[in-house]
Amino acid sequence: MSENEWGREEGFRRGENENRDEVLSADLVIEDNDEVGLRPRRLDEFVGQAELKEHLGVLLEAARGREQTPDHLLFAGPPGLGKTTLAGIVAAELEVTMHVTSGPAIERAGDLAAILTNLADRDVLFIDEIHRLPKQVEEVLYPAMEDFQLDVVLGKGPAARSIRFDLPPFTLVGATTRTGLIAGPLRDRFGLVERLDYYNSEELKSIVERAAGILSVIIDSDGAAEIAGRSRGTPRIANRLLRRVRDFAEVRAGGDIDVDVARDGLALFGVDELGLDKVDRSILESIALTHVGGPVGLSTLSITVGEQPETLEDVYEPFLIQQGLLQRTPRGRVVTAAAFEHLGVSPPAQFGEDPSLFDEK
Ligand SMILES: Nc1ncnc2c1ncn2[C@@H]1O[C@H](COP(=O)(O)OP(=O)(O)OP(=O)(O)O)[C@@H](O)[C@H]1O
Ligand SMILES: [Mg+2]
Repeated sequence: MSENEWGREEGFRRGENENRDEVLSADLVIEDNDEVGLRPRRLDEFVGQAELKEHLGVLLEAARGREQTPDHLLFAGPPGLGKTTLAGIVAAELEVTMHVTSGPAIERAGDLAAILTNLADRDVLFIDEIHRLPKQVEEVLYPAMEDFQLDVVLGKGPAARSIRFDLPPFTLVGATTRTGLIAGPLRDRFGLVERLDYYNSEELKSIVERAAGILSVIIDSDGAAEIAGRSRGTPRIANRLLRRVRDFAEVRAGGDIDVDVARDGLALFGVDELGLDKVDRSILESIALTHVGGPVGLSTLSITVGEQPETLEDVYEPFLIQQGLLQRTPRGRVVTAAAFEHLGVSPPAQFGEDPSLFDEK
């Protein structure tokens, strides 16, 4: 099995890593209390993802016009980009109740049946981490998604019989950090599959300014831009950095945030200019210095850095790749010249000699 295969899932539980950097991790199960209040409730409060928003807006308006449920929706993308938020927005825009569950929480077909029979007409069912649904549960989900029908098998052996129930029409909203792990048949049953991208600095800046307004923090434009620029393209991190800088401002700088206060506060919490944290830097350093630029296999890297392979793949690598600092190759991870530059060390003589290292995986 290749290092790059996205099929490995055993032992992966979110929030399992204890040595994770609190300030920069987008992937925490327990949200800060404040995060709930910062979540946009309506589509027009949702910043960025213009194309996705347009698609969703059309779909929701059409459904409202026809007084029907919209098609099932799947949102994919790295942690903290707004998948759960969008599910909440769908329910709010349709003025229905959202029922929240997750792939690993539904262990048996009966668990799903219980959830489905509790839905009211047109409700939204949100299944987070839908790529982790057990196979036998997925099979119950198919007829439910397609025909709003539930097949239940009663009894065992020769006396077993199957009963079919009608379910109220509902909208399934699925979220996943791993599109590659969603089985084709499941994926095909979603009417809209949208990928969330990292946000640009302008979008993050307006997310920071919006959050500052809600938290009653005074922040100037440059201060907001400074926090935005170090948020790894991720709204959850932008909000978290804002809260840490707010703490710093209140304790050490009289309360308001300008660019200097933002810089000092971020420096205190170990966030560098690109928004890289200790783990990011240790990934880059391990490949660049210990392994002379790479390639390094995922499992070796995981041991060196002290993070689960899945966390590296889901949380850390996508951003490093997007920043042009890291590449995945068939033979393992390699760092780029830009990574050496960011680390402030010169690449070793043999670095980049083998151009095949830089083939796309
Ligand atoms: N487009 C946005 N505009 C403003 N704030 C946003 C936006 N997207 C996300 N946020 C903020 O970021 C936080 C994290 O978003 P959310 O929980 O929806 O991410 P997620 O994609 O579901 O992450 P995970 O994969 O970890 O479940 C939200 O509480 C919200 O405050
Ligand atoms: Mg979520």
